[in-house]
Amino acid sequence: MPLTHTKDLFAKALKGKYALGAFNVNNMELLQAIIEACEEEKAPVMLQISKGARSYANPVYLKKLIEAAVSLSTIPIAIHLDHGDTFELCKDCIDEGFTSVMIDGSHLSFEKNVEICNKVVEYAHKHNCVVEGELGELVGAQFDEGEEGGGYSAGGHYTHPEEAVKFVQLTKVDSLAIAIGNSHGAYKFKGEQHLDLERLKSIKLALSENGLGDYPLVLHGASSVPADLVAEINKYGGNLGNDTAGVPEADIEIARRVGCTKVNIDTDLRLAYTAGVRKVLAENPKEFDPRKYNTAARNSVKNLVRHKVKNVLCSSGHAFD
Ligand code: G3H
Ligand code: 13P
Ligand code: ZN
Repeated sequence: MPLTHTKDLFAKALKGKYALGAFNVNNMELLQAIIEACEEEKAPVMLQISKGARSYANPVYLKKLIEAAVSLSTIPIAIHLDHGDTFELCKDCIDEGFTSVMIDGSHLSFEKNVEICNKVVEYAHKHNCVVEGELGELVGAQFDEGEEGGGYSAGGHYTHPEEAVKFVQLTKVDSLAIAIGNSHGAYKFKGEQHLDLERLKSIKLALSENGLGDYPLVLHGASSVPADLVAEINKYGGNLGNDTAGVPEADIEIARRVGCTKVNIDTDLRLAYTAGVRKVLAENPKEFDPRKYNTAARNSVKNLVRHKVKNVLCSSGHAFD
C-alpha cells in the first residue's frame, strides 16, 4: 500500500474519534516493531522522524527503510517531520515526500513563530504537504511551580485559547501542538501534577467557536513512562532514579476524547527497547550477537505499541475505515 496522506489520516481520526499514534523512528528495529504492532492491530499510524534521527541514521537510510515498511504492509502509514527547526529542514522533508512537517517555533515570540510558520505553510501547501505548528512551550509542569493558576504566565509556557485561535488564523497551520503541562522525556511531573485538561477543552472550544471546526490538536510528550519498564531497566543494571514520571494513560484517554488527534510517543519506545536489550545482556553475559538483544528490544517495543493503539489511543481496527 502506498503512503497515506496525513490529512486523510486526520480526517478519519476526527470522524472516528480516535487518536493517531505518532511514533518516533530511529532505526530498523523500532520501525519494524511499530509497523508489526499496527499491522496486527489494524491501526493507521504516523511515523515521525526528528532532526536527531536524520543525523543518527542518515535521511536516505530512513527513507528506504520506511519505503520497505510501506511496501510490506497493508495499513495506512504517513511520514512526519518531528520538531523541524528551520525552513530549510522542512523544505528538505517536503521535497523528500513527507506527508506532513512540524515547524516548531514555540521558543520564538508569537510574531516570529507566525512568520516562520507562514513561510513553511506557503511552501508546504504548494507541494501537497500539511504543517503542524506549536504554540506555548513544552517546559513541563514542574517548571511552572508557583505561577498563578499553574499555567499562563508572563513566560507564556501554556497555550492560551484565544492566542491559539489567532495563531491558526494567521498561519493556516493544519494542526496545532499545544502546551498544557506536557513535556518530553522520562521526568515530566513532580508529585500529583497532571495535564491541564480544562485548558485543552477551552482551546478546542475556542477553535470551534471561531469557525475552525473540529480542529486537530497534537499532544507532544505523551509517554506514560511505565513503572514496570523503569523497574525492568533498573533490575538489569540501569539507574533511572525514582523520580521518573509520565502522563497517566487515563489523561491521554481524556485528551483523545477532547480532541488530541495526534499523540506523540518516543520516550516509552526508548524505555521498552532499553529494557529488552538490558535483560538479554544481563541474563546472558556471554552474548554478543546484536540479533539476540535487538530481537528482545523489538518485541518489547511491539508489545508497547500494541497496548497504546488498542487501549489508549483506540486507533485499533480503524485501518480500513
Ligand atoms: O520530541 C522529541 C522526540 O522525542 C525526538 O527526540 O530529537 O532526541 O530524536 P530526538
Ligand atoms: P515523549 O518524550 O513523551 O515520548 O514525547 C515525544 C514527542 O513529543 C515527540 O515529538
Ligand atoms: Zn515533541
